[in-house]
Amino acid sequence: MDAIQVLTGRVSVAQLTGPDISPEEEQLLFKAALRAPDHAWLRPSRYLTVRGAAREELGRIFLESAPDSASLSDDKKEKLLNMPMRAPLIVVAICSVQEHPKVPRDEQLLSTGAGVQNLLNAAWALGLGAIWRTGDVSTNPLVAKALGLAENEVIVGFVYVGRISGEARQPPEMVISDFVTDWTAKSL
Ligand SMILES: Cc1cc2nc3c(=O)[nH]c(=O)nc-3n(C[C@H](O)[C@H](O)[C@H](O)COP(=O)(O)O)c2cc1C
Repeated sequence: MDAIQVLTGRVSVAQLTGPDISPEEEQLLFKAALRAPDHAWLRPSRYLTVRGAAREELGRIFLESAPDSASLSDDKKEKLLNMPMRAPLIVVAICSVQEHPKVPRDEQLLSTGAGVQNLLNAAWALGLGAIWRTGDVSTNPLVAKALGLAENEVIVGFVYVGRISGEARQPPEMVISDFVTDWTAKSL
């Protein structure tokens, strides 16, 4: 697919299914993610892949880490357990924030965000669907600990990747002038 078509036509896809992402597809997803801009080449981003039966373990981590785990309704428990089962591949995007005199934390988080966006675009270019999700689980310290994150690490997102189930929606029409101002014309 033409690069401009990918960038302008990509949509998030929540309805995802198998077959599993192949090793070749996965390599391309991460090759794209690792081309994110990165101030001072700190390489702040790293990724975990969760697939197959490991998704069930991730669901158990989501449930057991919930602050009110024991008192949750059965429906809520099921929901947390099944969250990772919504796609064949879950990518946990992590920013390892480093102290740096010229690169503040926000820039490092933005770099990981750019990596996620590259991954979303690469998935779309490969004919795959993907969606970036966060929610309470992404800021829950117990989830971070269970996934092996260090103290300086932050979950930037869980990216669900799979084959598109049904039809992907059309991207919304955006009126460019609502968002873009020609500042050079301010004095005219
Ligand atoms: C940082 C971030 C976190 C997000 N978290 C969630 C989430 O937890 N659940 C969700 O349904 N969408 C979440 N979204 C929104 C979707 O990823 C997606 O952008 C949205 O559904 C719009 O679809 P589009 O990408 O096709 O415009 C998040 C987006 C970003 C950038």
